[in-house]
Amino acid sequence: MAKPTSQFVCQSCGAVYTKWAGRCDACGEWNSLTEESRSDTPKALGGGAKGGRKLELVGLSGTSKAPPRMPTGISELDRVTGGGLVPGSALLVGGDPGIGKSTLLLQAAAALADTGLSIAYISGEEAVDQVRLRAARLGLTDSNVGLASATNFRDIASTLDDPQGPQVVIIDSIQTMYMDTLDSAPGSVSQVRACSHELIRLAKTRGFALFLVGHVTKEGSIAGPRVMEHMVDTVLYFEGERGHQFRILRAVKNRFGATDEIGVFEMTQGGLVEVTNPSALFLAERRGNVSGSCVFAGMEGSRPVLVEIQALVAASGLGTPRRAVVGWDSGRLGMVLAVLEARCGLALAGNDVYLNVAGGLRIGEPAADLAVAAALMSSATGTPVPADLAVFGEIGLSGEVRPVAQADVRLKEAAKLGFAEALAPPRRKSRATKPTKKAPDAAGPREAEAARAADSLTVREIGHLQDLVALFPTENLSRKDDAASE
Ligand code: TYD
Ligand code: MG
Repeated sequence: MAKPTSQFVCQSCGAVYTKWAGRCDACGEWNSLTEESRSDTPKALGGGAKGGRKLELVGLSGTSKAPPRMPTGISELDRVTGGGLVPGSALLVGGDPGIGKSTLLLQAAAALADTGLSIAYISGEEAVDQVRLRAARLGLTDSNVGLASATNFRDIASTLDDPQGPQVVIIDSIQTMYMDTLDSAPGSVSQVRACSHELIRLAKTRGFALFLVGHVTKEGSIAGPRVMEHMVDTVLYFEGERGHQFRILRAVKNRFGATDEIGVFEMTQGGLVEVTNPSALFLAERRGNVSGSCVFAGMEGSRPVLVEIQALVAASGLGTPRRAVVGWDSGRLGMVLAVLEARCGLALAGNDVYLNVAGGLRIGEPAADLAVAAALMSSATGTPVPADLAVFGEIGLSGEVRPVAQADVRLKEAAKLGFAEALAPPRRKSRATKPTKKAPDAAGPREAEAARAADSLTVREIGHLQDLVALFPTENLSRKDDAASE
């Protein structure tokens, strides 16, 4: 029987099937399988070990220099990359179409060029004139960036494969690039994988830092950057709500730095502007004295970020009450509601509950539990939380409030922004004897400064969720009959 000449490849995760199916078994994505030519997959290496070179195995210890860094001139980008670009490394910048990837990278290209590096910006999506127009709008026309509009990999490779070539290369986007030796259409998994592989290999041999832009789309016709995530050194996601002007650059993988850092930008008429004090920005639209709003003192990487959490608890007209969550984990909301019911006797589960993190930020920390509970209680009782109160703490299943990391940094940030009071978990056992207001006797100057700043703040320790509930007038709330009397 003749061998089939085509195969079906999931455009989301790259899994290969011999038959078409509606759903990819590997990643669960629907309608993501498309037909591709079998000749596009590389042949397995025949001939076993013949012709190979013996590898020299070395120990784990040894002297390796820290990788040299090229600062980008945009400090939020430096923060996310871990201190600048590493020569020979590849960065993937993913994000929804229209979120501002091209704008960010054009600004980065100009900033890098201004530090004296040679830059190649290769756009496959826009013509040279379009990019120039954008550069003019952003006021970047004086920067020495090498610009080209191209999609054929052959042309790009012969430009970059040069010892005198550029030090930083930006490919916008990888989905528009194609190799004429493959039959598949540009944007298919085979093309994206082959082009990125070759570009990354070129980056390694020629030592340039490579930015690859990748779109994230739900449609199966364009390969998700997922298939490239394992090939590159760093994966950055550029996210934000289209209706909001805030944009967040988040590292989800970084071989040269921490992955929990974020860079915050604001999209303005003149392009992306760095936001050095995100808390002030996220709290800017807050209106005082409304119920259902509470400020959470959170951490994003090494940086404290204060953000408003809004909740709405409303009587439900439906058999199954609605739950809608923006910016937080809906499973976690269910848990907080269940603990409020089981441990504090408050029957909120029959209500519609809406939760929103203001400003389009996405919170992943369990430390937000207590702030969410406070926002829920505030909405349910119609009692505003004081505008100068910041809250943080993780809630356990028995209703206990658990300590969270970097409490001092959170308190310091709250004090700096003029908050007068904080609800926080009890300090860990070893420190329990210390007074809540820390004396400025701490070891380093930074700790002393933190303690001084936190001094203007009254910290109220909340050991159990019931202590929080006791701060609200709960007479009018429906109670569970078998309230937590045990
Ligand atoms: P763009 O960088 O083209 O997005 P992507 O490359 O991720 O698809 O950004 C597109 C949006 O940004 C567009 O809707 C207009 C907006 N924008 C501004 O608000 N200000 C600006 O200065 C620029 C250049 C774009
Ligand atoms: Mg673009």
